[in-house]
Amino acid sequence: MSATPANATPLHDLDQWEDFLEGRYKEGKSETEFRQYDAEANPGVAEFYRLNHEFQTVDYVLGKEKEYFGLTRGKKTVWEAAEFLNTLVDDSDPDTDLTQIEHLLQTSEAMRRDGQPRWMALVGFIHDLGKCLCLYGEPQWGVVGDTFPVGCAWSNQIVFPEYFAANPDRLVAKYQTKYGIYEPNCGLENVHMSFGHDGYIAEVMKPYLPDEALYMLRFHSFYAWHRHGAYTHLMNKKDEAMLEWVRKFNPYDLYSKGHTKPNMKELKPYYDDLFAEFLPEKLDW
Ligand SMILES: [Fe+2]
Ligand SMILES: [Fe+2]
Repeated sequence: MSATPANATPLHDLDQWEDFLEGRYKEGKSETEFRQYDAEANPGVAEFYRLNHEFQTVDYVLGKEKEYFGLTRGKKTVWEAAEFLNTLVDDSDPDTDLTQIEHLLQTSEAMRRDGQPRWMALVGFIHDLGKCLCLYGEPQWGVVGDTFPVGCAWSNQIVFPEYFAANPDRLVAKYQTKYGIYEPNCGLENVHMSFGHDGYIAEVMKPYLPDEALYMLRFHSFYAWHRHGAYTHLMNKKDEAMLEWVRKFNPYDLYSKGHTKPNMKELKPYYDDLFAEFLPEKLDW
């Protein structure tokens, strides 16, 4: 029996999607090479995108925003949220693979080494905490994956655009126009993005962080926009200014994962100070 979409797990863990991104944006790899090679070489990833593109509809997104953006899942400190994310069980090898917290520390530590602003190192540490959606029972295709606007025509710059053929929004004429349910240059903050860990963590952090940080959180998986230049017709002046920051963030997300385990004990005091500088002790999740 095939798995139902709600519990389908075509990825063996969430990191498989990020590894795929890293490979996809390896220097010198053309779009054509990508198309020919990647669906065959990564059948789990292709199946994951097939489900994502089929089920991320306007109705689905509005429903999930209502369910999660009110932040009614209790209070947690950043460390508690990170420990919670660490309980995600996958088939990785505990002796050689890094934990979720170690991955987050590698991102933020790479930023610190480059002398990026303190708020950015904070973003590096927290940017994937929204993956705890998986622990709330959300399917992989509703937690990770490239994000894209719903309620207007899908760009063919979105990875595997052919899979949108099975999305029921295909049959809603209004959603298939260039602007769809939006006004020209309405600003990306007013656009409903496919649901996932990005939008959720941005909502959690919204009261506390500068716009640059919130854009990095909210749009870090919106590759069609920040990598491929799609959806300029929905952008406003603020989006134009923020785009460079989202682009600054991206290499750290893609390429900072190494295999050396960060020394948690040594690093903890720095992060305690960093969290206290910007955030209340407990956050609503
Ligand atoms: Fe992410
Ligand atoms: Fe990430």
